[in-house]
Amino acid sequence: MTMGTHTRHIVSINDLSNDEIETVFRVAQHYLEKLGDKNLPFRIGRGTDLASDFVLATLFYEPSTRTRLSFESAMLRLGGKTITSADPGTSSAAKGESLADTVRVLSNYADAIVIRHPKAGAARLAAEYAGVPVINGGDGSHEHPTQTLCDLFTLKKQNKNLKGLKVAISGDLKGSRTIHSFVYALARFGAFIQPLPATGMELPRHVDERLREEFQCKMIGGPKAPDDTTSIDALYVTPDQPHQPSLFSDSDLDLNFQISLSDKKFDAVYVTRFQKERWQNADLEYPKVDAKFLRSPKYATASVLHPLPRVGELDTALDSDVRAKYFQQAAYGVPIRMALIALVLGVESSGFFERFAGGFRSQNYVLYQQARGVGIECSNTNCITREDSEQQYIKNRFYLVHTKASNKFKLRCFYCESDIDHFMVAHKKNHWFSTDMSILNDATETSIRDFIFFIEEEDARKAGYHPRRGTLENKQASSGPKS
Ligand code: NCD
Repeated sequence: MTMGTHTRHIVSINDLSNDEIETVFRVAQHYLEKLGDKNLPFRIGRGTDLASDFVLATLFYEPSTRTRLSFESAMLRLGGKTITSADPGTSSAAKGESLADTVRVLSNYADAIVIRHPKAGAARLAAEYAGVPVINGGDGSHEHPTQTLCDLFTLKKQNKNLKGLKVAISGDLKGSRTIHSFVYALARFGAFIQPLPATGMELPRHVDERLREEFQCKMIGGPKAPDDTTSIDALYVTPDQPHQPSLFSDSDLDLNFQISLSDKKFDAVYVTRFQKERWQNADLEYPKVDAKFLRSPKYATASVLHPLPRVGELDTALDSDVRAKYFQQAAYGVPIRMALIALVLGVESSGFFERFAGGFRSQNYVLYQQARGVGIECSNTNCITREDSEQQYIKNRFYLVHTKASNKFKLRCFYCESDIDHFMVAHKKNHWFSTDMSILNDATETSIRDFIFFIEEEDARKAGYHPRRGTLENKQASSGPKS
């Protein structure tokens, strides 16, 4: 396969455009029709030789059943071959080898790499160093884009149009990477999302803010006042035209609209397990979805989805309920991943298939980067940038995210995509620092090289910077006691 500029990586669901996602679905549907099992319409029963010249590597540093085996089954059904490293204890990671080196080596053994890793941002790091396409099979609590493709496809197969779909998401919304990819996609396709988090497991703030600021979701409803009979529970409402600046005007969100939305029945309930491996305290209360929960009229026709595995939060008594779609959802892992592999490798030449364009979906934000050891570092303790073995391979890289509406600046880690909201900007030549970010208003990839960011004022001072004249920091410093 050709390496280099046309290498396509799927690290986040946002690396795929809506059209590309629809293409994956078209191709998956084509495989189901051509190669499906006659008795089980969601099962692939036969193979092709489309990818017979290709090898897929599955590089898994965390437990997996569905993701790894469905990728491997998909590659075998495409006529390709697979190599696998599923136990970090028996790979060179146990000797301390960096992920960056591992994927560089693997790029000579395989034509695409599927990676799963406990650290958020690991898949993006792998993509930086691999010469072949990298597909994220789940990285920490960051994202799991191919699970989302299975989830959306399952919904579509219930004859559900993603636009206007009303979806409840239940459980550990903070730790579940599947949820993070899923909510971005739902927002992009114009669905309504009702979060039903376990206590303390709400969506991470950066995901919530991204839904509102980048995908134009509006939050309506919220906690009910005792005498308020009209408001509904909190719900993300997405505009008719995702990515169009038109948005909703406030009058669109009037009471009638809110009431009609609250009357609308749910189309789906998405359940997730408690991600105990990502929490210190494993003894927290957790909601259960069972027949009693689904008895509510609002769930009368809702499909029940779960990425699996389940560990008690989804009653097995529901398995025979017509609304239960989770085993079908897991079965779609094969046609969906066949489609993704075929598209990433570009192995279909019939003309029916479109090949993905090269590279990532381009970001609109300015990328700031600096060597490790100076200035700001990602504050997510589970980010791959914190790993000792990767230190020589990683730069501190952040997107400078400017939200015009609130005139707020944030730094978004290039790898794990968590945000830093409070920081100092310092001028490398003039040696001042400040919290006033207005100087960054027209920053470009070139002009940003004049600046360095620090988390704390003290860090900036230690690095030899002084408060900028006329700024609050400067006034505080000059009126303070002399030492
Ligand atoms: C999910 C994962 O690994 O994030 N599993 C999967 O791929 N279907 C969900 C989970 O582990 O809870």
